[in-house]
Amino acid sequence: MADKATSEFFFELSEVHTSLGGKAILRGVNLEIPTGKTTVILGGSGAGKSVLLKHLNGLIRSRSGVISVAGEEIQSMSEPELLKIRKRIGILFQDGALFDSMTVGENVAFPLVEQGWKDQRELDAAVAQALEHVGLPGEERKMPAKLSGGMRKRASLARAMIFHPECLLCDEPTAGLDPILSETISRLIRALVKERETTAVVVTHDLGAMRIMADHVVFLRDGKVRFSGDLDELEASGDEGIRQFLSATGGGG
Ligand SMILES: Nc1ncnc2c1ncn2[C@@H]1O[C@H](COP(=O)(O)OP(=O)(O)OP(=O)(O)O)[C@@H](O)[C@H]1O
Ligand SMILES: [Mg+2]
Repeated sequence: MADKATSEFFFELSEVHTSLGGKAILRGVNLEIPTGKTTVILGGSGAGKSVLLKHLNGLIRSRSGVISVAGEEIQSMSEPELLKIRKRIGILFQDGALFDSMTVGENVAFPLVEQGWKDQRELDAAVAQALEHVGLPGEERKMPAKLSGGMRKRASLARAMIFHPECLLCDEPTAGLDPILSETISRLIRALVKERETTAVVVTHDLGAMRIMADHVVFLRDGKVRFSGDLDELEASGDEGIRQFLSATGGGG
């Protein structure tokens, strides 16, 4: 395994521009994401949050600009080089993205199998432990279709964290959950990343979830970072768009 990142920032983005389908989505993103902390990315629908998140492990490549991950510039990397970077980063996609034809256990084991693990007993033990950590002990044999929304999120989180990545990327981890489950999942993510000193980047609309998880907040609008700071600075921001976002989504309470 690569040495753990020790630099102040796990991700550094400078003037990142990306167009998709002929439309400019990221329009000069400048961003520093601190190592060992949780950064929450806020922004309205279509602001480019998911697209930005996928740049962080090279799933989407930028047209121009510089992206460094743990001190290494990734834009010019080959796929095998990028794979090494991806081995350090777990990702929880916006829809959970469990494979419906595989059991929960096979889903959770998937990143380890991809990384070359072959011993079934070792795999089984790792899966059992990962499921235990997310509050789904003994659910290996269930099919994803049989899981509730909250259980799907837990299983996806177990899969993203099974290889103890240095960094966790989460896209809307509480979307579609009721407020109580949303709080439970947010606290679970917070506890896991704190315990393991994981660098986390969480995209969310959910201000309750943000308050539980965030050490650092970034607000994205029209493909640019409009704010970067802590929760108190966010609440105190005079930016009209941020004020609207916070009040429209129930940020007052
Ligand atoms: N593969 C793609 N090809 C073309 N356009 C895309 C692609 N992926 C995203 N887009 C466009 O990029 C813009 C930003 O999308 P993105 O999914 O990042 O938004 P978001 O901020 O995550 O929104 P939401 O909160 O609804 O998830 C949207 O206009 C979307 O249609
Ligand atoms: Mg999105």
